[in-house]
Amino acid sequence: MDTKDQVLFFEGKLQGSPVHNIQRKVKDLEGIFQDQEAYQNIDPETLVYEVFSYLPVKEGTEGGLFFGLSRVFPGLVGNEYFMTKGHFHSKIDRGEFYWCIEGHGIMLLMDMEGNTKAEEMSPGTLHYVPGYTAHRMVNTGSETLAAGACWPSDAGHDYEKIARSGFTRKVMKVNNRATLV
Ligand code: F6R
Ligand code: ZN
Repeated sequence: MDTKDQVLFFEGKLQGSPVHNIQRKVKDLEGIFQDQEAYQNIDPETLVYEVFSYLPVKEGTEGGLFFGLSRVFPGLVGNEYFMTKGHFHSKIDRGEFYWCIEGHGIMLLMDMEGNTKAEEMSPGTLHYVPGYTAHRMVNTGSETLAAGACWPSDAGHDYEKIARSGFTRKVMKVNNRATLV
């Protein structure tokens, strides 16, 4: 068997020659966190999250699937937990599955009217992101929050809407507890 292009997904890792890795550092997340002063005071090189992805077909292909592993590190910007940028899909009706494999956090889901739903993430929880729904992972724990994800290869990512108006609710540390505000 030819193992050159084999992809392995175990022990919280996605490995193999076809796997891509992107890293998001504090300096890449301008405008995402609320507390600007706290944001300016963090080392811009601090790693907030990374995504490993396996894209077996060309981006935009109808009928294909992509697979990803997102790892959000523990940390705070002011009182706001480290989280992913969050996005709608460019083909806005496209859905996605996420499942948590490590750590504790929140999957924040927001529909187009700005209604927000927070789903607790812990190892084994499964999260369905319907179409027309922005999604973001928030690490409220003290270890890495890791989740697998699978989405259609023609979904694309629309970061603009979130950059413009954000999520209507945020997950903050209040009195030592994760609180939706
Ligand atoms: C793909 C998807 C995930 C995220 C990843 C990083 O549609 O939802 O693979 O891309 O969790 O989050 P963003 O893309 O919001 O920086
Ligand atoms: Zn997505």
